[in-house]
Amino acid sequence: MSQKEEELTYEVAIEKATASLTRFPLIPVRGIPLMSYIAQNWDSIWAFRPDPSDLLIATYPKAGTTWTQEIVDLLFHNGDTEACKRAPTPVRSPFLEIFSPPPIPSGLELLEKMDPPRIIKTHLPFQLVPPGFWENKCKAIYVARNAKDNMVSYFHFDGMNKTQPEPGPWEGYIHKFMRGELSWGSWYDHVKGYWVERERRNILYIFYEDMKENPRREVERIMRYLDLSLSDEVVSRIVEFTSFKNMKENPMANYSCIPKSVFDQSVSPFMRKGEVGDWTNHFTAEQSKMFDDDYEKQMKGANIPFRTQI
Ligand code: A3P
Repeated sequence: MSQKEEELTYEVAIEKATASLTRFPLIPVRGIPLMSYIAQNWDSIWAFRPDPSDLLIATYPKAGTTWTQEIVDLLFHNGDTEACKRAPTPVRSPFLEIFSPPPIPSGLELLEKMDPPRIIKTHLPFQLVPPGFWENKCKAIYVARNAKDNMVSYFHFDGMNKTQPEPGPWEGYIHKFMRGELSWGSWYDHVKGYWVERERRNILYIFYEDMKENPRREVERIMRYLDLSLSDEVVSRIVEFTSFKNMKENPMANYSCIPKSVFDQSVSPFMRKGEVGDWTNHFTAEQSKMFDDDYEKQMKGANIPFRTQI
């Protein structure tokens, strides 16, 4: 099946399954809260065997996954923007662990139908990534975003994504985030888990803030990591095509493929603000102080150079 046909099947499948989609409860898998469908299918996810040429893009949710997926797809296609409009992001770059009610294809089913090298998205913390990735020495890019902006983005996303638990009020959400009670668990453990493994596993660890500050520099960094060498002109085209404004308008990147009953973009658009420092519009001074005090404890000794402003 071509990716275009796959796209149609995917969208129709989501429409068909809409009635059985709900805010799924979280079930812990080795202590990490995951959506029930993922937890129930855990054994098949853990057993996944990638090809050595496959690339893993790992993130805590809302750290810049879609942006990085788009950049990498363009790099793999020599900046061919038409080729990168062949299907929506989740079809071009499947979500490894996602399982939803039938007939929505799981990430594993989509991957099975694709030829390597595949661009595989995951939100799993390091210890839950199927060991086949490291045994096969797959390349992996980890994108990290500062905790405060990451949480703000997740809060809005949980409001619009009708398959995630209700975010509830902002004040309570901050505490859930600090305690790691959201889908995919603790932000703190997630960013630290990949950080400590980055050299041993040859993981390219990049920051959302750096991408915002100098997208060209970061696209080139990813290009070199992938052992690609594209012309300056192609790199410029990739930077332009993956700007926030262009991705927001691109139906193949802005998740408009997901029906409103699942992603209600009138509550909050998937491409919401795309900024560094939006947290200042959400945290009160007291909340910020309380968060920072806790952050210091949770991140003690980690030395990860996060920036909350650029
Ligand atoms: P905001 O909610 O802060 O706007 P993910 O893809 O991991 O779900 O992350 C989504 C976040 O990345 C959203 O953040 C979204 O707007 C932002 N984003 C997506 N594409 C972007 C781009 N091209 N440039 C900047 N930010 C982008």
